[in-house]
Amino acid sequence: MPLTYMGGKIATLDDASLSGRKVLVRVDLNSPIGPAGIIDDSRIIEAAGSIRELADSGASVVIMSHQGRPLENDFVSLEEHSRLLEKYSGVRVDFVMDVIGPEALRRIREVKPGDALLLDNTRLVSEDYIEAPGKKHAEGVMVSRLAPLVDYYVNDAFSASHRSHASIVGFPYRIPGLGGRILEREVRALNKAVSEDERPKVVVLGGAKLKDAVKIVDFLTAKGVVDEILTTGLVGLLFLYAKGYKMSRKVEDLVRSKAGEEALRKARRIVEEGRRVRTPLDFVVERDGSLYVSPAEDIEVGIPKDVGPSTVEYYRSKLKGARVAVLRGPAGVIEDPRFRRGTVELAKAALELSHYVIFGGGHFRVILGELPIELRERVGHISTGGGALLYFLSGRSLPGLEALVDSARIFNLV
Ligand code: 3PG
Repeated sequence: MPLTYMGGKIATLDDASLSGRKVLVRVDLNSPIGPAGIIDDSRIIEAAGSIRELADSGASVVIMSHQGRPLENDFVSLEEHSRLLEKYSGVRVDFVMDVIGPEALRRIREVKPGDALLLDNTRLVSEDYIEAPGKKHAEGVMVSRLAPLVDYYVNDAFSASHRSHASIVGFPYRIPGLGGRILEREVRALNKAVSEDERPKVVVLGGAKLKDAVKIVDFLTAKGVVDEILTTGLVGLLFLYAKGYKMSRKVEDLVRSKAGEEALRKARRIVEEGRRVRTPLDFVVERDGSLYVSPAEDIEVGIPKDVGPSTVEYYRSKLKGARVAVLRGPAGVIEDPRFRRGTVELAKAALELSHYVIFGGGHFRVILGELPIELRERVGHISTGGGALLYFLSGRSLPGLEALVDSARIFNLV
């Protein structure tokens, strides 16, 4: 069945013969990084399957990915990623500490069929952190240097396809662009979820990426594409703050520093306009090593680390009968098992009470391990995409997918 996106067609690995060809594959290896290196390698495991399929098809594989954002702690080289990719794929994966310089170009020319080469963090090149149209990026330095060395471009970075960056949108205008297997699985599952017949739709939105979360809430509420937005985690705290709830100076500082002034202003505007954003009723708060449950209007001491039982009950009632429920971002600090309960209970509620459940983000793999097996079997789809998933569900076009649709047309691929 052809892969469709917003009325257009995307060519997949089934539409091209890659044996003996040089293929540039953009994956998303972006992983959480701690002081000792990669903390969660689930994206690498997922990408390894794609690399293996490409290598097995007889292609010479050139891999690229971003990791983190410039000047942040997780903005590191991909050397460790290459070792893990090699381990999980069983394919020889060499690494070059270069992206578009002479050493990278030389090594790309040398890749043999069945082998792979991973280039370094694409965001070391400024073009890969600049939002611009695909046709513009197609004339940029990154695409101009790499495209002539390869025959095909494969986008298997669904989770970065909401970015209009060079490595995502530029290549498909210069060389034939295909959707990889991860991207294909995502688009097929999410096409089902966005169908207008599937109402009500409920989104449970948590985690700590506040700038992105506010944008997402903005789109979703402005367009009315979902029926309920239930905020948890730091996102819940941000919207409570925007609603004028009092919090301790420490919590206020945390919210303000994570959100930044622009996101905070936007959150306040969303609230002032009376758009419906549900906020937690209570939190599990840690204070001097002890835990207690505090109502949301009274978190003047301690640090909230999870949503409380009343919030879970309230949100259960909203998840009941949903045709599609999407859970993105943890409700608490799930790295610490004492603060996993909210996320686990909301996942259970969705699986018990909603028709089709999509989990977004790697952390849900941790949570799934804590669910009874019969509930695990009810998971509809686990998306690799955080922001990309919500762009898709909100009906906002993903530049990376649009570029593939254009490529299929330009190069007559499907
Ligand atoms: C993600 O983790 O959501 C993707 O890798 C995109 O990363 P970004 O938000 O830094 O663009």
